[in-house]
Amino acid sequence: MSQVKIGLLGLGTVGGGTVNVLKRNAQEISRRAGKEIVVVHAAARDLNKPRICDTDGIKLTTNPAEVVNDPEIDIVVELIGGDGLARELVLTAIEQGKHVVTANKALIAKHGNEIFAAAEAKGVIVAYEAAVAGGIPIIKAVREGLSANRIEWLAGIINGTGNFILTEMRDNGTDFADVLAEAQRLGYAEADPTFDVEGIDAAHKLTILASIAFGMPLQFDKVYTEGITKITGDDVACAEKLGYRIKHLGISRRTTNGIELRVHPTLIPERRLIANVDGVMNAVLVQGDAVGPTLYYGPGAGDEPTASAVIADVVDVVRTMGAAVDNRVPHLAFQADAINNMTILDMGEVETSYYLRISAADRPGVMAELTKILGDRGISIEAMIQQEPAEGESNTNIIMLTHKVQEKCMNDAIAIIESLDAVAGEVMRIRMESLS
Ligand code: NDP
Ligand code: HSE
Repeated sequence: MSQVKIGLLGLGTVGGGTVNVLKRNAQEISRRAGKEIVVVHAAARDLNKPRICDTDGIKLTTNPAEVVNDPEIDIVVELIGGDGLARELVLTAIEQGKHVVTANKALIAKHGNEIFAAAEAKGVIVAYEAAVAGGIPIIKAVREGLSANRIEWLAGIINGTGNFILTEMRDNGTDFADVLAEAQRLGYAEADPTFDVEGIDAAHKLTILASIAFGMPLQFDKVYTEGITKITGDDVACAEKLGYRIKHLGISRRTTNGIELRVHPTLIPERRLIANVDGVMNAVLVQGDAVGPTLYYGPGAGDEPTASAVIADVVDVVRTMGAAVDNRVPHLAFQADAINNMTILDMGEVETSYYLRISAADRPGVMAELTKILGDRGISIEAMIQQEPAEGESNTNIIMLTHKVQEKCMNDAIAIIESLDAVAGEVMRIRMESLS
């Protein structure tokens, strides 16, 4: 059986997992690919670091350019991360006519338009299944499995670290910082974990999903991004009492005025399947006009789940290497000349319902003042809870669920509520989605 030679950039969590799975399942993989797939050259920063994989038989270097420039290499697998060096290496590999597989969502979300154009000009493939939702084959599902559909919206839990933190906060009341440290130890978190907890990683992934769902260019800078750092145990508990779960969602929806592109904590009814996706698991719900709703579930991070997606891409590339360029699946699902610029809706124009937590003085008239401010702006209240003030405290937490309203209208109401003497601190606002 002939061999396809892989050059691996990075031997960390995903790189190590990829070497392990390729070795362990070599026979099954070559039966599928029709060729033997061998890692022959790999780069890491520190060659003396202990590794999760056995690197015997692999030529090692600290210079990733050596791997890219190695004439023996057929496919470059980029698992370094970041969008500086990784971009240079990937563009060099393309320039040399090499196919590329990457798990790097930051790279694709920020530089994908440039990278795909270069790849198309050279007739090579850049595959990126592992960049979204770890081990879930969501890119394949949206790019290929749903190609009959006009996709209407998608919503997903697409950051494993964030979901792991929210689940531990809810189930065990564990401290945010402790859970994050555990996610880092398990290899789930990004090199800079603020990407996970501030929603940037999910925004990278949503950028990619929205492009392949709607056939538009990658536009990371247009994603409204909010993380999970302001969510308190109290919010999690209140949401539960009201029959909801708080999940960090990436949401993209086609509306008559443009495409919604937003990442933020979201209350979803606890009866929805996606509300019960816990720990490092991810799930993406896609609504197509022909198929209706479909849900994709699986591990969103970790060495071997991510390696599963990386290797599936390698197998796809190997199978396609001899095929005519026209027979390939387009990088962004739609033919390059059919990618359309679409208006991205400003967050102020987005319509959704809200959970509000207001710390207010426990005295007559305050509730009436709050409801008047909302009522004057056409914001209708669906449910309300007033908590008992804590021992020795004069303020009470008022929790309100509202019906749908435009975000700019809610911003206006919140600004006025925050200016009241009776209200302390900022109003906590969490958007709500029924996902029905
Ligand atoms: P790690 O930090 O575990 O691994 C990065 C690897 O790249 C390390 O082996 C590191 O070397 C090497 N590296 C970094 N910079 C250089 C350099 N300048 N020269 C040579 N080698 C270098 O990251 P992950 O494996 O977690 O992530 C890799 C990519 O996969 C990222 O883009 C990430 O976003 C993505 N991803 C990660 C997932 C996960 O669960 N971890 C899931 C899905 C995608 P050394 O080990 O010596 O420091
Ligand atoms: N840090 C990412 C996460 C890795 O936690 O989801 C997978 O992309």
